[in-house]
Amino acid sequence: MGRVNVLSGDEVTAVLDHQTAVMEEIASGASLSAVLDSVVCALEELMPESRCSVLLLDDSRTLRHASAPTLPAAYSAAIDGLEPGPFAGFCGTAVHFGEPVTAVDVMTDPRWVRFRELAAGHSLRACWSSPIRCRSHVVGTFAVYHQTPYVPDQRDEELVRRFTHLASLAVEHAQAAIEREARHMADLARQTAERANLAKSQFVTALSQELRTPLQAITGFTENLQTLDLSPDQRRVALEQIGLASAHILSIVDDVLDLARVEAGAMPIDLAELEAHDVIAAALDLIQPLADRRSVTVERTGLSVTVSADRRRLQQVILNLIANAVWFSPPNSTVCIATEACDDHASIHVTDQGPGIANELLARLFVPFDRLGADAGREGGAGLGLVLARRLTEAMNATFDLASVVGVGTHITVTFAAVLRPHK
Ligand SMILES: Nc1ncnc2c1ncn2[C@@H]1O[C@H](COP(=O)(O)OP(=O)(O)OP(=O)(O)O)[C@@H](O)[C@H]1O
Ligand SMILES: [Mg+2]
Repeated sequence: MGRVNVLSGDEVTAVLDHQTAVMEEIASGASLSAVLDSVVCALEELMPESRCSVLLLDDSRTLRHASAPTLPAAYSAAIDGLEPGPFAGFCGTAVHFGEPVTAVDVMTDPRWVRFRELAAGHSLRACWSSPIRCRSHVVGTFAVYHQTPYVPDQRDEELVRRFTHLASLAVEHAQAAIEREARHMADLARQTAERANLAKSQFVTALSQELRTPLQAITGFTENLQTLDLSPDQRRVALEQIGLASAHILSIVDDVLDLARVEAGAMPIDLAELEAHDVIAAALDLIQPLADRRSVTVERTGLSVTVSADRRRLQQVILNLIANAVWFSPPNSTVCIATEACDDHASIHVTDQGPGIANELLARLFVPFDRLGADAGREGGAGLGLVLARRLTEAMNATFDLASVVGVGTHITVTFAAVLRPHK
């Protein structure tokens, strides 16, 4: 009761106004230092002769200035980093004992021996300090300085008590926000790890299924060769099938290993300045037999461009893209591979007149072994080509863009930064 009466009616109103303003600031998400500045300034307004500051303990239990808007900067800097202890000025002592500490005159108070000269040098003569608590732990101090020896009266103590409480609320609110953020980050990390785990087991399941078909073919034909009396023609067919199935397994294993290496950032990439047309020509030679079989015309347009790329990996990218374009396009359509150079980049475009890919399937395009329902029996197709092409492109510091319209076709662009040549 007595506490309330030490403030006049006007003062109680002023304190309430300040408290409301600070609570609104906290609620609006203002930073802790801004809120503490408001608390300190409000108290200085109600105690015009005083200068106030807030020191908070950091993780290593050292006191750091969180707010000291009117204290001399050199003094604040010298006090910053104070370790709590029985003779650590008033703030260090208040934290050490968890009790308010008053030094009526720092020139005579024994706890101030270490800081006497410093305080006197900045005309600070009386200091008193109250611990700031957060969930019953002392987390810092609220300090009030005067320029002459000063004995705080009941009014001063009541004001400091109220504003120290307000500072405690601000610190508690800020700590709760930090804890919420830490919990949120931990949740995100856990979800990411769970997703990665799920993706890994889905990958292993899909890989096993993908290998099962050719392995069954090898087992079946081998058994036939061992147990049946086959004609020379039947033996040749069986051996051919075993050869095809083995090649298929080998290509899947090669792609999986490449994908694993590129995803782990362990794929050796040997960048060199290359003429894109040379690499495209080599890829076209390899793809021509498939294009002929499928009656698809492959044409090349544009002048050659120089790119900084790994020859083998760029060829792998182009081969995968043209193979898809040729494989998924209807007979008598045309696949175009175009090169284009601008001031700051060089691009390779692969465009087909195939069925296109529906928007709702685009997200699955780069999922290993997902063939979007395409004929699972087709030669060589495991559903690894596009994801590998994109990862390899990115590993060469280039970008990979895909646009597709159902019924019109698919257009993929691989873009490299322009190769800069020194001026002669
Ligand atoms: N140009 C395209 N036009 C239409 N659909 C395409 C095209 N490119 C890819 N797709 C679809 O995306 C799927 C994934 O392509 P991706 O190249 O990764 O695998 P794949 O060609 O089936 O097998 P792999 O490339 O491993 O031999 C394909 O199965 C097909 O359904
Ligand atoms: Mg493919």
